[in-house]
Amino acid sequence: MDKLQILGGNQLKGEVTISGAKNAALPIMAATLLAPSIHVLKRIPKLRDVFTMGELIKRMGGKVEFEAGICKIDTSNVDKFEASYDLVKTMRASVLVLGPLVARFGQAKVSLPGGCAIGARPVNLHILGLEKMGAKIFLEEGYIIAKTSQLKGTKIYFDIPTVTGTENLMMAATLAKGTTIIENAAKEPEVVDLANYLISMGAKIKGAGTSIIEIEGVKNLKPPSEYEIIADRIEAGTFMAIAGASGGDILLKGCDTAFLDAVILKMKDAGVVFKNSKEGLRVIGPKKPYAIDIKTMPYPGFPTDMQAQFMSMMAVANGTSVIKETIFENRFMHVAELRRMGAHITVEGNTATVRGVKKLKGAPVMATDLRASASLVIAALIAEGETIIDRIYHLDRGYEELDKKLLSLGAKINRIKSKPQ
Ligand code: EPZ
Repeated sequence: MDKLQILGGNQLKGEVTISGAKNAALPIMAATLLAPSIHVLKRIPKLRDVFTMGELIKRMGGKVEFEAGICKIDTSNVDKFEASYDLVKTMRASVLVLGPLVARFGQAKVSLPGGCAIGARPVNLHILGLEKMGAKIFLEEGYIIAKTSQLKGTKIYFDIPTVTGTENLMMAATLAKGTTIIENAAKEPEVVDLANYLISMGAKIKGAGTSIIEIEGVKNLKPPSEYEIIADRIEAGTFMAIAGASGGDILLKGCDTAFLDAVILKMKDAGVVFKNSKEGLRVIGPKKPYAIDIKTMPYPGFPTDMQAQFMSMMAVANGTSVIKETIFENRFMHVAELRRMGAHITVEGNTATVRGVKKLKGAPVMATDLRASASLVIAALIAEGETIIDRIYHLDRGYEELDKKLLSLGAKINRIKSKPQ
């Protein structure tokens, strides 16, 4: 397993281009299963999760090619409808193929994702919604087996505004007979980007980005000549936390600040200065951030995917900050590792109290999940001395060439490749 070796304390200055959004790329790649044709997707980031989704589609009979940020997917000859456990266990977002497969082929065999480091992460709402649309679903040996002659439009209410649940059912509804209404839908920008791709293929969708989405089923869909996905707001937010924690001065290119209001507001409260220009968004961190409280919420609230990164910034803040995680039940895996670096953090249930310290100290630490690994990188960049971060395959799942981007900003960072087994 590759490791990252980081020597902290360097001034970080320069510019980075934000890559395409992982959480838009994954549902949009799954959506190609809805239309038997060649799909050309631009700004697709080179990430492990993206390659896993590509592998899933290839195993179904699709053709998938990646070329310099462009992903070409031909789903004309898809003739298998299975997402097997060996792939799904590495990426729970594989469940996003369920809705498209049932909608287009009337059948699917998708492994239950199983838990992950940050929580149990059930998919019951995905299954309930498809059953309401007329799919017969049963669980067998850890697989979701779904069958239907034709999905029917209906009204679905989500107890929780599930992001991939909204995406799965929105995709399924595009080819259903009649109209589907999803109430308490997720409003994330990645849901809107997926809706825009579906609409560009001829789907009839209204209300994406609000909590009520209406989808009128159509007979078939046809992709546009090409489609460019949105920038990754969580990568952009991660670089804001890097500047905020280190007193850095970073120009973010290609990011859409409209998706980051909650994060930018909290960063400003912490003393980060933002300067918008035609080149991009300049982010200037304070010498020492102020301690700010945050509570993660569904969009447009403060994103849970930014909680760990913000905590690293608060670890060296002036004062004490209270961080409440309301989305996942176990998203504090980074706390124990930050403590190894000298952070003062106590956890009670879903609340972490962070008392800012003068300096963190480099140490050997271990990544446990995608955003936790980003928080360890931030801590290592500002710590005194050397940090070795193990299991950085977690990081490679969701950040495109983060070590290269940090090198260009002046970080002392080196990837230690693991010896081939
Ligand atoms: C999406 O996960 C993102 N992944 C996650 O990003 C993100 O953290 C999460 O949304 C919340 O914003 C992708 O988009 C690929 P949820 P998802 O369904 O859809 C519960 C990252 O770091 N729930 O919105 O799986 C669930 O347990 C990843 O890029 C049910 O109870 O999240 C959780 O507590 C991590 N039943 C809450 O809802 C269900 O059927 C929100 O989960 C579905 C969800």
